[in-house]
Amino acid sequence: MIQKQKGCNDIYGREAKIWKYVESIIDATMEKYNYNYIRTPLFEASELFHRGIGESTDIVTKETYDFVDRGGRNITLRPEGTAGVVRSYIENKMYGDANQPVKVYYNGTMYRYERPQSGRDRELTQFGMEILGSDDPMSDAEIISLAVNIYKMLGLKEIKVNINSLGDKESRDNYRKALIDYFKPHIKDLCEDCQTRLEKNPLRILDCKVDADSDILKNAPKTLEYLNEASRDRFEKVQDYLDILEIKYEINPNIVRGLDYYNHTVFEIEAKIDGFGSNNVLGGGGRYNGLVSQLDGPETPCIGFACGIGRLVKAMELEKVKLSIIENIDLFLMYVNEEEKKYAVYLAQELRMAGFIVDTEYLSRSLKAQFKQADRLGAKFTAVLNSDDLNNNEIKIKNNKTKEEEIISLDVLIYYLDEKLNTDAEEFDYSFSNEGVEEDECKCGHHHEEEHICNCGHNHNENKKHCCGGNCHHNE
Ligand code: HAM
Repeated sequence: MIQKQKGCNDIYGREAKIWKYVESIIDATMEKYNYNYIRTPLFEASELFHRGIGESTDIVTKETYDFVDRGGRNITLRPEGTAGVVRSYIENKMYGDANQPVKVYYNGTMYRYERPQSGRDRELTQFGMEILGSDDPMSDAEIISLAVNIYKMLGLKEIKVNINSLGDKESRDNYRKALIDYFKPHIKDLCEDCQTRLEKNPLRILDCKVDADSDILKNAPKTLEYLNEASRDRFEKVQDYLDILEIKYEINPNIVRGLDYYNHTVFEIEAKIDGFGSNNVLGGGGRYNGLVSQLDGPETPCIGFACGIGRLVKAMELEKVKLSIIENIDLFLMYVNEEEKKYAVYLAQELRMAGFIVDTEYLSRSLKAQFKQADRLGAKFTAVLNSDDLNNNEIKIKNNKTKEEEIISLDVLIYYLDEKLNTDAEEFDYSFSNEGVEEDECKCGHHHEEEHICNCGHNHNENKKHCCGGNCHHNE
């Protein structure tokens, strides 16, 4: 039997529904913040990520999947989204667009040749967003708050935001030098990886998981001590904006981030959930003002963030977050003979195209087995198509919860279902559990005043508890 590759996952069933739900919330939230969706290729020229020997440091020091294609080109499967976005920004001259800054988001598969372990995959999915073309500290705060608000919208509560600043080039260079001076006498006591990191990128020693608990790392110089005045002022402004946005954060001088392109603000968002394991960083990001020019574009200040969706879904499961996912179909059509089956095939299409979630029998099982199937699918209504009824242009439809049955004209079936499913929305609302949600408390954790603009774009007073579900259920 052929099995999936190490560090890869099959996402299916309920977990796949959660993924789709997460993605719908990401799309809806990005739309509100006016970020445009961008799709860049899964593979790029290797030099986008790795510089040649003897050149400046790699853009990402991750282990990547590299290969030579049939045309002899060096290709790398993208390990992250930022470098591809920057390549696209330069190649498509987005810096010349009238709308500035350029605000984009993505959601896609990335590949890292990691030693597989829980929370560390070789094939992973990230969503991320970038602002290209603004150096204003408000954009740093916006990216951090957008990330936090997506987690909030998804119902996650146990998260912690850690922020730090690496400062501008001058501050970063001074800090780098201080780190080399500090680590040199201790280097033999650190792991092999750290020994190679010393000259290449000493900041990454601070990220080391092997030596994380060593006093040598704990007592290392801190970035904030090396910030020049301009960088310190800038970092304070970022904090001011975060305070205005009521985003809770902690300044954590140990956050330096693994990727090499950062300066000024860097941040990570951790899951603080029992049982999550050591790879508990849900997402991270920071400012990377030098990357566009390093890739031969114009000087462009940028900031961004990315989050692994696998880790995010795990956090939601561990926190037992209530989800607004559709797990019930509207109608299950049953039949016995071929004539009824043909009508079921036709009617299922009609109703699906009219917007209902409809299923029917594919295995020609007994009626008893079809009823069981309807229950497994959580059908809100069932109908056993009967040749006599159909000849009279009628259908017998049953509310699967109250067990009430009605014979109605086929001409009014769509209106009937529409009305019943909407007016009885509360009764049929199996999909959204309000357990533990206060009457006036929205899923986002805020208390809303009377009128509230729902994610669905409508203004309504009722069902406030649904307002952040993305797939809003309401009675109007
Ligand atoms: P990163 O910290 O390398 O940043 O990755 C961001 C997130 O992707 C991590 O916090 C984690 O949730 C997820 N992730 C990374 N590696 C794995 C893995 N092997 N398995 C599962 N999940 C993983 C970046 O990628 C930057 N591009 C972020 C950024 C955007 N900076 C500026 N703009």
